[in-house]
Amino acid sequence: MTGYFRAGVFAAAVCAALAAIGAVAAQVGYRPAAEELALEPVEQPLPFSHKTHVGLGVKCKDCHAIADPGFAAGYPAEATCMACHAAIKTESPHIKKLAEFDKTGRPVPWVKIYRVPDFVWFSHAAHVEDAAIACASCHGPVAEREVLFKEKKTSMLACMDCHAKHNAPNDCDLCHDPG
Ligand code: HEC
Ligand code: HEC
Ligand code: HEC
Ligand code: HEC
Ligand code: HEC
Repeated sequence: MTGYFRAGVFAAAVCAALAAIGAVAAQVGYRPAAEELALEPVEQPLPFSHKTHVGLGVKCKDCHAIADPGFAAGYPAEATCMACHAAIKTESPHIKKLAEFDKTGRPVPWVKIYRVPDFVWFSHAAHVEDAAIACASCHGPVAEREVLFKEKKTSMLACMDCHAKHNAPNDCDLCHDPG
């Protein structure tokens, strides 16, 4: 009896949460994507190769600093690139373009590959620093890629699967702030 009762209460709570989040989703105009993985390489404004640059010994966090408050990994400042490219490959049209972005203070308009909707709470610091999860668990073998593409899922199920494997919480309000 109590089991049924509890299941009923849980189902009602889930329905309420779904309705609340559904309303937020509607507000921000969010539609779940039909196709989750975009396995085509993404065309970027500059032909940046992770394989080349990680191969030179530059560390992930030298370029993706995970600055406070730690939500974003972010993209490197153009000055980080120019530390080398003020002297390396200066005759390349791509590096000329890069130097122009740096000089005019406009960030390179990189095309974002991994993205969760605004109603999802996600923190790089919580995963990389607190839970010691490797970048590759969520982004694949980036260090081997000439061109990046979305090769790992960021669906709700993908998040929850990994949480279950690590005995991490899976309450709705962990990832969806009800307030
Ligand atoms: C540690 C030094 C270093 C840093 C930092 C660095 N690069 Fe490079 N980059 C290189 C080297 C070395 C090459 C390979 C040059 C060659 O092919 O001979 C290269 C190649 C490139 C190329 C290919 C150029 C061409 O026309 O062949 C691009 C584009 C590029 N880098 C962009 C960037 C961007 C954007 C950043 C910052 C996010 C950056 N690099 C940071 C050293 C660096
Ligand atoms: C020299 C600087 C540099 C280094 C080192 C570097 N990255 Fe990047 N990273 C970039 C730049 C520039 C972009 C944007 C262009 C692109 O997507 O290739 C980027 C994009 C990414 C993206 C795609 C983000 C998105 O959604 O748009 C991921 C994931 C990523 N890097 C992970 C890594 C990991 C993991 C490492 C270490 C193995 C690493 N990066 C090392 C400069 C760097
Ligand atoms: C637990 C999974 C997970 C781990 C571990 C992880 N990322 Fe991410 N990453 C994501 C998700 C999800 C997004 C999209 C975030 C968003 O849109 O708010 C993302 C976005 C990014 C971006 C795009 C810019 C941004 O900050 O949104 C870069 C660059 C990136 N990650 C690099 C890295 C690097 C480098 C590491 C390791 C130091 C790493 N990530 C570890 C899941 C992860
Ligand atoms: C590769 C495994 C993995 C993936 C994928 C993953 N997580 Fe996590 N996540 C963890 C672990 C482990 C913790 C730490 C739990 C703990 O502290 O007990 C965590 C913690 C969290 C926390 C709590 C952070 C805090 O400060 O307490 C949130 C929120 C979260 N994850 C959201 C997400 C979202 C959203 C996604 C998908 C976009 C995601 N996670 C994908 C493993 C993962
Ligand atoms: C570990 C993180 C995590 C937990 C726990 C979680 N969600 Fe989500 N949820 C997400 C992510 C990530 C998305 C966005 C997925 C995407 O980009 O398509 C999402 C999307 C949604 C959406 C939007 C519609 C859809 O299907 O994409 C609803 C509604 C939702 N979640 C409800 C819930 C409810 C109810 C619970 C509790 C049973 C819950 N979520 C628990 C991460 C989580």
